[in-house]
Amino acid sequence: MKVFNNLLWVLEDGILTLSINRESKLNALNIETLAELRSAFQSIYDDDSIGGVILTGSGEKAFVAGADISEIGQLTEVNSRKFAEEGQEIFLAIENCPKPVIAAVNGFALGGGCEIAMACHIRLASENAKFGLPEIKLGILPGYGGTQRMPLIVGKGKAFEMMLTGDMIPAQEALQWGLVNYVLPNKEALIGKAKELLKKIMKNSPSAAELIITAVNAGVYNETGYQAEANSFLKATRTEDFREGTSAFLEKREPKFTGK
Ligand code: COA
Repeated sequence: MKVFNNLLWVLEDGILTLSINRESKLNALNIETLAELRSAFQSIYDDDSIGGVILTGSGEKAFVAGADISEIGQLTEVNSRKFAEEGQEIFLAIENCPKPVIAAVNGFALGGGCEIAMACHIRLASENAKFGLPEIKLGILPGYGGTQRMPLIVGKGKAFEMMLTGDMIPAQEALQWGLVNYVLPNKEALIGKAKELLKKIMKNSPSAAELIITAVNAGVYNETGYQAEANSFLKATRTEDFREGTSAFLEKREPKFTGK
């Protein structure tokens, strides 16, 4: 049993259910939560009693509503590239986890929430789930690998539509797009399906599973793409639109973008 401020760790029959637990902020990923995720995945790599992981959000409303916008709003030229690179690194640690990781998406999966779900090996959604990369509405772009993983999963055209409109899509559309494998009626059924899949996977050879994960990820990883994403993120945080977009969200008003 491990104890975190913003994560819940429940290990049962070799299956770890890891819940992001900041319900009052719709489980938004602040810096502390990201550091806890890094540490949790280090333990998952090392702990032989864990055979598979379910990543979910506390409560019924949100999986993860993104990176914490109050912290993003504070970013400057000095730390914004590092901000993107650290998130990329943690999400790559999830993607490269030698044990199967299933995202059980139980509500909003926006921005960093959609990106962390895409870093998992398999995604399942509850009927009320909504997916989106709305960063453009804040004057920025996905910075935790979303520009790289979304085109791989749904194709470039749909990925561009999602990133350029910033619109959300409901669970059934995510299923049609291939962003999720199954849609379940509620959270209980969602976790039940994730456990069923993990139990099936865990009956197979763990070493073969690890080798499959390594081989698949080796084929799709593109270092240049991730560097370009971090560079673009830095450029976006130099703009007036970024200040306007993040301030408007926190002040609960519509942003007025100028392109500067
Ligand atoms: N970062 C920080 N706080 C967030 C957040 C985020 N990404 N998403 C939601 N919250 C906070 C809200 O500020 C609010 O806090 P408050 O009660 O202290 O004011 C609380 O979570 C509840 O959110 P609220 O916006 O009131 O809920 P809603 O049902 O009206 O709207 C969303 C839900 C998901 C549509 C809306 O919260 C939203 O658009 N969130 C941001 C999504 C986003 O742009 N993510 C990408 C970030 S890079």
